[in-house]
Amino acid sequence: MDEKKVMLSGIQPSGELHLGNYLGAVRNWPEMIEEFDCYFFMADLHTITVRQEPAQLRRRVLTQVAQYIACGLNPEKCTIFIQSHVPAHAQLGWVLDCYTMFGELSRMTQFKDKSAKHKDNINAGLFTYPALMAADILLYQPDFVPVGEDQKQHVEICRDIAERFNGIYGDVFKIPAPHIPKVGARVMSLNDPTSKMSKSNLEGCVILMDKPEEIMRKFKRAVTDSDTERCVRFAPQEKPGVSNMMQIYASVTGKTFEEIEAEFEGKGYGAFKPAVGEAVVEALRPIREETERLLADKSYLEGVYKAGADRAEYTANKTLRKVYKKIGFVPR
Ligand code: TRP
Repeated sequence: MDEKKVMLSGIQPSGELHLGNYLGAVRNWPEMIEEFDCYFFMADLHTITVRQEPAQLRRRVLTQVAQYIACGLNPEKCTIFIQSHVPAHAQLGWVLDCYTMFGELSRMTQFKDKSAKHKDNINAGLFTYPALMAADILLYQPDFVPVGEDQKQHVEICRDIAERFNGIYGDVFKIPAPHIPKVGARVMSLNDPTSKMSKSNLEGCVILMDKPEEIMRKFKRAVTDSDTERCVRFAPQEKPGVSNMMQIYASVTGKTFEEIEAEFEGKGYGAFKPAVGEAVVEALRPIREETERLLADKSYLEGVYKAGADRAEYTANKTLRKVYKKIGFVPR
């Protein structure tokens, strides 16, 4: 039988999606759900390792569910759910805490970074975060887990934990591979084109839900380069600002760099920046409108994440039962 490979991805609902997330990753996902059996979940259990404002957390989780659907994740073709809706995550998370070593967790770079950043709240959850993430993954026996560079260490520790567990109890867990996804565009900040677009610098960052006026304003203010030729030419080293906007323009319009250079030949940056802004406005318009429509349709959204949790739970509980049995827990 030709079973599809399983892919799983957890998303932290700790902020809003921006153009860099979209062009760099999310845009390729609709293609992925055709090829693989995909699970996407909002990792709200992970998010509370850093203090959250309750109303804002709730709104962000729902907005993200709506946004992913609006970006083309058809909930009929993949499983979208909210982590806290499937208790098996917390349950297996505890079990794996007992098979994860203090020393291993102490070496995690994310723990070191986050505890330096939130000195007033270095909680135990922040420390055991990787064991919960291992549970998220192992419950669904995925073949691979697409992650960015910053999460690779967490997938590696997940493999170590799984191998340790399998070493004691036999083959319980499938060992997942980290999969550094084929990157789409690497989008840089509009007002600081040497660093990646990020929410920590909002002026240089286009949020998917930004209104058209806001997007246009950000592009008009985008920094261009202080070279003397003042022409639209792709040269990331010498002209990082212009090249970044060409990259963005190319990915939303499908035009090549040569075509873009020809289009703006003799026209300077004054014509180029608003043209990129408008192209981005048009690319994001359907996503923003669809997200707003979905957010207003509470019962539809609820239907999506309930059905997702039901599907996820079925698979997750199967794995959890097996684990409990292997460990020697008395079945209820
Ligand atoms: N730690 C991931 C991040 O911060 C989110 C996450 C939680 C995740 N559980 C996961 C990613 C399982 C992949 C698989 O981005």
